[in-house]
Amino acid sequence: MKVIKVKDQVEGGKEALKVFKEALDNGVKVFGLATGSTPETTYDELVKSDIDFSNSISVNLDEYVGLKPEDEQSYAYFMKEHLFNAKPFAKSFLPNGMAEDADQECERYDKLLEEYHVGLQLLGIGRNGHIGFNEPGSSFDGKTHKVALTQSTINANSRFFDNEEDVPKYAYSMGIGTIMKSDTILLEAFGKNKAEAVKAMIEGPVTPEVPASVLQNHPDVVVIIDEEAASLLK
Ligand code: GLP
Repeated sequence: MKVIKVKDQVEGGKEALKVFKEALDNGVKVFGLATGSTPETTYDELVKSDIDFSNSISVNLDEYVGLKPEDEQSYAYFMKEHLFNAKPFAKSFLPNGMAEDADQECERYDKLLEEYHVGLQLLGIGRNGHIGFNEPGSSFDGKTHKVALTQSTINANSRFFDNEEDVPKYAYSMGIGTIMKSDTILLEAFGKNKAEAVKAMIEGPVTPEVPASVLQNHPDVVVIIDEEAASLLK
């Protein structure tokens, strides 16, 4: 893992912009994208930049089950607001939270991910070390699946909703196996409440209990962390 330490999240976004530019220069066509507060400054930088994604494809990591794309809490809506409205891609894909048949939806998304091999995958990390919505205990070979969110993730995500009861309890997520197939992975983590997860990911044993620790097995990972997220590292 290549670890880049930055002062704060704003600087992190600027570093991430460089990684995206390099990927485009190297001919990357498919970008795996993430949601959450972590990539927000990265998307701000991409939006401000002269980058053109009109010949690129995007595939997102995950989506809540039961939310329509127009729902302001859906990840589809988040992506439009933060990136796609300003920087449209040739095609953009997310799991369909409203799909009637979960198995079919997962199969559809996996087929799509086979067709569009991810060149650069952007990731955040949950406080419990989850990536996408692959919660602790998830299989390292996992494909797209419907996940029951843990209480800790529901609590963490409740800040985006009016009531905790409104936070969806399920989501579709790319599996760890698929994430690991990406050519390059860029993981960002900012703030004190990510420090333990960051330490476990980089210095801990590789274990399904810390899903992000699997990245130690990937040959091309860039980690961008701020001082607070790095504060527990040796
Ligand atoms: C959610 C998302 C993850 C994200 C994580 C951290 O559970 N599914 O992709 O990395 O939360 O979110 P945040 O960046 O808001 O801390």
